[in-house]
Amino acid sequence: NWSMTDFIDQQIAQIREKVGDKKVLLGLSGGVDSSVVGVLLHKAIGNQLTSIFVDHGLLRKGEAEQVMASLEGKFGLNIIKVDAQERFMDKLAGVSDPEKKRKIIGNEFIQVFNDEAAKLDGIDFLAQGTLYTDVIESGTSTAQTIKSHHNVGGLPEDIHFQLIEPLRTLFKDEARELGEKLGMPHDLVWRQPFPGPGLAIRVLGEITEDKLEIVRDSDLILREEIKNAGLDEEIWQYFTVLPGIRSVGVMGDGRTYDYTVAIRAVTSIDGMTADFAQIPWDVLQKISVRIVNECAHVNRVVYDITSKPPATIEWE
Ligand code: XMP
Repeated sequence: NWSMTDFIDQQIAQIREKVGDKKVLLGLSGGVDSSVVGVLLHKAIGNQLTSIFVDHGLLRKGEAEQVMASLEGKFGLNIIKVDAQERFMDKLAGVSDPEKKRKIIGNEFIQVFNDEAAKLDGIDFLAQGTLYTDVIESGTSTAQTIKSHHNVGGLPEDIHFQLIEPLRTLFKDEARELGEKLGMPHDLVWRQPFPGPGLAIRVLGEITEDKLEIVRDSDLILREEIKNAGLDEEIWQYFTVLPGIRSVGVMGDGRTYDYTVAIRAVTSIDGMTADFAQIPWDVLQKISVRIVNECAHVNRVVYDITSKPPATIEWE
């Protein structure tokens, strides 16, 4: 008879035994999974934990500030914020293959952690919020690799951390239950999932600052309108994608040739399968009008009506 309280006690005991009096570094993304790991680890080992939040420049609008505001100094967490936007953008310049983008971002994360760990000295462990779903879809099991979720797959050989992944056997809904049991606020626990590579996999192909800006602006509009419609907890994940195609439109008397923004919104239990969300037409209409009016260089909005499978949730 599996209970979350037992799970917490077991994990705390295991973490204490594994870590001893050594130090742990946690990569905090501000999402549910890594935040839950942070709170759990702090309960287990207190100040032997140091958390790092890396701003890789691929976050949503206002996200870095929000993450720091909701976590810094809370639940005993002390967070070092690293501004690594340039490092990531330099490495990603000219790269358009989705898996290459993921690998570059995953590696750069590890390098940033390594650099920070070197400053702190005496770090032996790296903690991550890896879920069971990440393990499956990255092909660590016998299944074929679908996408290499960047927080899975081990560390480069020249890096000597041991991994701590307390959520490795849990699905998302269980991670949320765990968060609630640990007394974390509702808003944080019910944040929609956000992938580690961030907006890099929502600008299809090569990433540029201009394209990132379109995704950031349109995503903010989508989030606002989904919340206004009271749908934010019903829909598992909702975001905009920039496929990179341009099409002909008309504005006033003039012809335009501008970008298309795609809306992706799905309902799901664990992210393994998903259905496209049936957002009411009037809500979609409001979103569409706002996106073309408020986002420069966008003249068309489309709605993705495929489920997973055969599509995946993200477009890359
Ligand atoms: P897909 O697109 O594979 O997404 O249907 C399933 C869930 O996983 C998230 N996702 C990722 N999360 N690193 C992550 O940490 C990744 O590389 C990655 N790719 C997809 C996606 O947002 C969805 O919640």
